[in-house]
Amino acid sequence: MTEFSISPTPHPLRGALRVPADKSITHRALMLLPLAAGESYIENYLDSETTRATLNCMRALGADIIKVDAHTLRVNGRGLHSLQEPRDVLNCRGSGTTMRLLAGICAGQYFLSVLDGTPALKRRPMGRIIEPLKQMGATILARDNDRFAPLVLRGGTLRGIEYGMPMASAQVKSAILLAGLFADTPTTVHEPAPSRDHTERMLRALGITITNLSPTAIRLEANSKFEIRNSKFEIPGDFSSAAFFIVAALLVKHSQLVLENVGLNPGRTGLLDALTRMGAKFVVENQREENGEPIGDLVVASADLRATQARGDEIPRMIDEFPIFAIAATQAHGETRVRDAQELRIKESDRVATVAQELRKMGAQIEEHDDGFTIVGPTRLRGARVNAHNDHRLAMSLAVAGLLAEGETVIEGWECVADSFPHFAEMLSNVQR
Ligand code: S3P
Repeated sequence: MTEFSISPTPHPLRGALRVPADKSITHRALMLLPLAAGESYIENYLDSETTRATLNCMRALGADIIKVDAHTLRVNGRGLHSLQEPRDVLNCRGSGTTMRLLAGICAGQYFLSVLDGTPALKRRPMGRIIEPLKQMGATILARDNDRFAPLVLRGGTLRGIEYGMPMASAQVKSAILLAGLFADTPTTVHEPAPSRDHTERMLRALGITITNLSPTAIRLEANSKFEIRNSKFEIPGDFSSAAFFIVAALLVKHSQLVLENVGLNPGRTGLLDALTRMGAKFVVENQREENGEPIGDLVVASADLRATQARGDEIPRMIDEFPIFAIAATQAHGETRVRDAQELRIKESDRVATVAQELRKMGAQIEEHDDGFTIVGPTRLRGARVNAHNDHRLAMSLAVAGLLAEGETVIEGWECVADSFPHFAEMLSNVQR
């Protein structure tokens, strides 16, 4: 287990930086481009622990993906029905996105696939995808009454379903839509609130007919043509990685950062709305679109923050940002409340419990609820020995807290940052000037 030590910065954070490529979009490109007919190039992809799991699984399924250089992969897309039975278990490592989305693809194959991963992934709920995929006609067995990995799948031609999802989850929605590619009738999903729509945007860019019947209902037509239309697929910077620098720049006095080339899909930027209510100001420059995804350069400067509430439809739009949002809340004036966020309990860690436990060690006033937390601020944090709980986003959030705290903060279990942001520490030290 590695440790990372961080002390309060004597300097503001200044300059321009490019955070690593989007994890969600990289997973989807690795899974979808091999299934579309034609050659394509994935540029600026994220090379991390979790995306390597997807790359290896897709190669084991017969996908032809070649590394051209450190930032580029070439994909020789052989079409929707080109996958082959893997010789071994597909190891999704710790990646929930890999397992859930791949299950959607494997459900449409006539061969047998077994999906497994780390002990932490084996504890995360899989019943949420198994149930709809079974309704579509796939045969799936899983541990503990079909609720947990490993998953054993044998599918084939599926039938489209109309499915009401019990929770807002892009992974569940994507698993169903990807299985829908192998169905002989249309597939419709209804969500309780909109979740990130990278799958829909990418499928559309590849020629699939997919319609938003409403903000929370998506219909995918059966048997649409699936082909590479634009061979260059450039992945934007990950908003969820930018989030650590956004909050750090807001909280460290006299800072100003430009986060270049960052993905600004509205299904991901709920944090900007919450922080704007708290008093932050953001400017977006060079706004553009790549393969259906909005991108821009985000300028952020330090600000005095006041408390706010996050609940309802905003929760899925900032679902990965609550650990770093909690750090912002410790420095805001008043009582910040997060509700309707029970999904936080089944992320890489139970993020309600781990955020509360670790921030308390640093002196934060935080109360846990079943579906969120309340933080009273502002608090002068103090350096402490804290633990990342094998959760990359918690680890990096604690590092930002360490920048502000009095004395040294030591984060145990730092190695998990490699899941999404392998060079985080280096980038954070480069902008202190
Ligand atoms: C993701 C969806 C979200 C998010 C996860 C990545 C995706 O999970 O928390 O980090 O790529 O679709 P849920 O679908 O479980 O909300």
